[in-house]
Amino acid sequence: MCGIVGYVGTQQASPILMDGLARLEYRGYDSAGLAVHDGKQIHIHRAAGKLSALRAVLASEPMNGTCGIGHTRWATHGAPSEQNAHPHAWGKVVVVHNGILENHAQLREQLLKQGHKFSSQTDTEILAHLIDDELKDVTLEQAVTRALKKVNGTYALAVLCTDFSDRLVVAKNASPLVLGIGEGENLIASDIPALLAYTRDVIFMEDEELALITAQGVKIENFSGEQIERSPKRVNWTPMMAEKGGHKHFMHKEIHEQPRALADTLAGRLNSDHRDVTLDLFKMSDTDIKKLNRILIVACGTSWHAGLVGKFLMEALARIPVETDLASEFRYRKPLVGKDDLVVAISQSGETADTLAAVREAKDLGTNLLAICNVLDSSIPRACEHALYTHAGPEIGVASTKAFTTQIAALVMLALRLGRARGVLQDATAQHIVDALSALPEIIEKALEHEDAIARIARTFSSARDFLYVARGINYPIALEGALKLKEISYIHAEGYPAGELKHGPIALIDEHMPVVAIATKNKSYDKVLSNLAEIKARDGKIIALCSEPDDRIRELAQFIIQVPTTIIELEPMINVIALQLLAYHVADFNGTDVDQPRNLAKSVTVE
Ligand code: F6R
Repeated sequence: MCGIVGYVGTQQASPILMDGLARLEYRGYDSAGLAVHDGKQIHIHRAAGKLSALRAVLASEPMNGTCGIGHTRWATHGAPSEQNAHPHAWGKVVVVHNGILENHAQLREQLLKQGHKFSSQTDTEILAHLIDDELKDVTLEQAVTRALKKVNGTYALAVLCTDFSDRLVVAKNASPLVLGIGEGENLIASDIPALLAYTRDVIFMEDEELALITAQGVKIENFSGEQIERSPKRVNWTPMMAEKGGHKHFMHKEIHEQPRALADTLAGRLNSDHRDVTLDLFKMSDTDIKKLNRILIVACGTSWHAGLVGKFLMEALARIPVETDLASEFRYRKPLVGKDDLVVAISQSGETADTLAAVREAKDLGTNLLAICNVLDSSIPRACEHALYTHAGPEIGVASTKAFTTQIAALVMLALRLGRARGVLQDATAQHIVDALSALPEIIEKALEHEDAIARIARTFSSARDFLYVARGINYPIALEGALKLKEISYIHAEGYPAGELKHGPIALIDEHMPVVAIATKNKSYDKVLSNLAEIKARDGKIIALCSEPDDRIRELAQFIIQVPTTIIELEPMINVIALQLLAYHVADFNGTDVDQPRNLAKSVTVE
């Protein structure tokens, strides 16, 4: 995780770097630092804690210079302290780094024997030492390449050198790195939102590439020194999209952006006869789709929950066996996939290390690969031959919301496409689903209208120590997602269960102190869920029921009711999760936790 930024141009670097770090703070926020070249020497400021601590240091000791680098940290090696905050310096070299160097202990030992001294416990610091050692009769780029040949691991790296006040050198392996191409100025960052205020023309660095960045241009080469020509791509995200826009938190804004995010994800993809969808970057022909034996979905966290919904959708609509696997498990268990399978990797960021590794493992096994992703040209879609982009826009809140609903919308469209190509989805059913999809953004608006009632319930339960979430069928992954949202931003322990599993163990937890959130919408599981609620009530559990329309049977069982708009069963997960996102948000906001940057988390998990 961690976020890195860099600037070379004619403006003062430090405000631009601080602005970039503020937009990357979601990647890590336990310490931060800047290094700026003033034309003669490099000055470094670092501070433990959030970016505001570094801002205070800069207010009393401003930095001058038009070339610099910055870092916001999510600790891996060494405690989150000022000493371990980046940048790290040795000799003439200053570095910031995102990633993990696996052989750092060995290298540190060798360097110590040669008389080097270290001032932090980080793996990163060895890079400054290695590069400085190589800086004899070679260019800075060559010194960086030579040093990197000695390390094993992952990195996005930016390097400043006292000898040059007009340049940075950056390099990438596995961790994300984007170059922002401006006029008379150029930038680098771990993610696009840090660049948007300055440019929308970006170049994505590939693994084992290095670039020299000056105000006049960028020169990219591979580790063998061969120059690489790559034109910038224009991203359609605007700077406004990365602002809070009057909301108290990014998460709140992103929950409310879901009607727009869904409309954008569906736009241009639903055929005018409402019987099929067009997915331009999913290029498998009907003949190839018919040959598929199986779908395997790999993802982590919230994206994995979307994958669990995807299993229900594709098995029901395309009649094909689907397995949904956690990417971190898939990659280590000799998976069985081959040329007649389709592996679908789901990732908001497109940079999650475990999902990327699972994709690479699957690629080696010769399977078909599709990425469902929110970030254009990020590593996961680049590693897959097919892509289905969600158009949620930048998601900054660490807890994923709009990315999740748009991933499910993408999975509904994929299920439709597969079902049509395989000849198992009748015209009328396809039309029914496409009609419902067209109405989805409006229905989500209606779901959001219940926010005040949900906030009142959230206040009532804000001091609960534990929560259970239960549901059945296609809504079971939504119970898991509701529980994850609550625990990650409010730190309240929460578990999701299929309602039918309660009596096989978890029912032992129920007493008068246990709130149970139940999805009891009017679908074919309704009666069964009601029986489960009766079992909970008989043990004094406090039930908060999501229901399509409050009826007497639910009123008798539940203490609190959250009404949700009705839709077809396939789209229910996208509607029901809105209420659970709002419930988690308001519990956390009422308790005063850091909603957008919860403790111990970071948005883009680019380490294993
Ligand atoms: C939870 C959350 C995480 C991510 C997970 C995968 O709110 O955001 O669980 O879903 O880290 O991230 P992506 O989708 O970027 O691969």
